[in-house]
Amino acid sequence: MDFIEHLKSSVDIVKVVGEYVRLKRAGGGPRWVGLCPFHTEKTPSFSVHQTHQFYKCFGCNAGGDVIRFLMEIERLSFMEAVKLLAERHGIPMPERREPADAESRLRAAVLEMHEIAGRLFREALAAPEGAAAREYLARRRVSPTIAAEFGLGYADRSGQELVRRLQREGFNEQQLEASGLVLRRQDGSGFYDRFRNRLMFPIHSESGKIIAFAGRALSAEDEPKYLNSPETPVYTKSRVVYNLHRAKDEIRKCGYSVLVEGYMDVIGLHAAGIRPVVASCGTALTNWQVRSLKRHASEVIVNFDPDEAGGNAAERSIQLLLEESAQVRVLELEGGLDPDEYVKHSGVDVYRRKLEQAPGYFVWLADRAQRRFDVRTAQGQVAALQLLLPAIQRVSDRLERAAIASEVAGRLGVAPGLVLDHFRRAATERKAGAMRPPAQPVRPVEKILLNAALLSPEVRDEVLPRLESMPEFDQFLTRRIFEKLALLHNTQREFTFADLDARLEEADRALAASLVFADELDEEVYTLEQARACLAAMERERREAERRALRQRVKEAEQAGDYEAVLRLTRELARLSRQRAG
Ligand code: UTP
Ligand code: MN
Repeated sequence: MDFIEHLKSSVDIVKVVGEYVRLKRAGGGPRWVGLCPFHTEKTPSFSVHQTHQFYKCFGCNAGGDVIRFLMEIERLSFMEAVKLLAERHGIPMPERREPADAESRLRAAVLEMHEIAGRLFREALAAPEGAAAREYLARRRVSPTIAAEFGLGYADRSGQELVRRLQREGFNEQQLEASGLVLRRQDGSGFYDRFRNRLMFPIHSESGKIIAFAGRALSAEDEPKYLNSPETPVYTKSRVVYNLHRAKDEIRKCGYSVLVEGYMDVIGLHAAGIRPVVASCGTALTNWQVRSLKRHASEVIVNFDPDEAGGNAAERSIQLLLEESAQVRVLELEGGLDPDEYVKHSGVDVYRRKLEQAPGYFVWLADRAQRRFDVRTAQGQVAALQLLLPAIQRVSDRLERAAIASEVAGRLGVAPGLVLDHFRRAATERKAGAMRPPAQPVRPVEKILLNAALLSPEVRDEVLPRLESMPEFDQFLTRRIFEKLALLHNTQREFTFADLDARLEEADRALAASLVFADELDEEVYTLEQARACLAAMERERREAERRALRQRVKEAEQAGDYEAVLRLTRELARLSRQRAG
């Protein structure tokens, strides 16, 4: 067995996918289902098959084995996914590694540089030159334990420490430049550190690797307040959610995530014991980030700063969250304090209570509209409803819409009928739902035979030759799949669903997956006995059809008065019946 095979057989795809997607077992069988992480959907069309170690989405057609999944979800090359999988499961990689392509090598170098930088910054925070940064943290009541947990560090003011360290480690100019950690001097005479005299926040990928940094100024005069890493081969801002790798287990447990604006809010809430907390990294929230959150829990509680900017950002984020079908609540804190300040000021119990009681987004929006417009006038009412419209438009459930309508009407002091009217008009403008796989008119025997053949070489040994010699086989919708299966079986007795999948044409790929994954039959159906029964049933049906045809011909010969033919056909019919009995 080569290393890749060994690796794949030592991990379970259900567990690996389960770290990114909430999966539920479908029935008692080997199938698990969940919301697809690769496209937006409300009802699950994503399945993972434990026996076949394969995932498939019938909405967007994504599919593959465990390595493909990691490649897609973490945006990795093949070898990077293999490496990540091996690392996470403590399986040593073989010494001789394939020479990676240039891009993977560069990404590996950049990741290593971030590891080194993280360590250097942490050391500097503990060293004498980190005194001011330590004092700053103390002032903001970030304990050394929390600082260590978040990997906080300090980039010194020289602008030389990191670049020297990286050069000493042997990184070349191309790698230095790609890392985003250093900048080239104007006169071209070498490099200097991007982050100088800043408190450093490492930003991690969902699998927990440092992929970027944010550096906070220590004094108010220093601009900008936060300096963030640029986009690099390992960092795409719009795809990263700050603190998700730490918070995701807790998000699953609670069933919601708390979305805040700032790094300090995340740290402050976490330190106070509110763990399912995340932030976008200094950018407006993106679809990708929302989907990352939704993979772990469908509800998001938005808790932005209680200022003008925070309110506007919350409004935009709500639209985006609704677009991705998240359930949204909004927590607004009084007293002009941001979440970090608020827990410190009022205590975590008060915060937690407010979190639990946070109202649905439409209540928050209605209150906002009420403040902005004079809802005692008809004009004001219409303006307020206009403001709510885009949000309500996205509520697809009729009952939910009605409930929201009456709630909103109450808040705005208008007639519920008026609100519903608006919503009804909005709803008709909504687009149709997600695409579904077309129903395949495949006969049950084909499905049973294919599943049984996939499960063991013994079944294939017996079933495939018999099947291919049967006249019915030509009519099989799955014929090409069986042919590929037979080819594969003849070259390697043991193989996986992924091996078959890789050899199929696009249309057959979807068909095969639909027969194996979209499965309402009991697993016990897929045994050698059942496969034999299918073949026997097909043969029986064929003879039955032949007999029917003969009887018809006998009748016709009788009518035509051709008694010689009647005799011949009757004998033939008797022979067929004996065959059936025998
Ligand atoms: P805040 O100014 O609210 O920062 O910006 P904060 O995290 O709460 O930090 P403190 O409490 O003021 O120290 C919210 C977020 O906006 C991004 C950062 O992601 C920050 O956490 N931001 C802010 C920047 O990217 N650059 C900036 O200059 C300011
Ligand atoms: Mn803030």
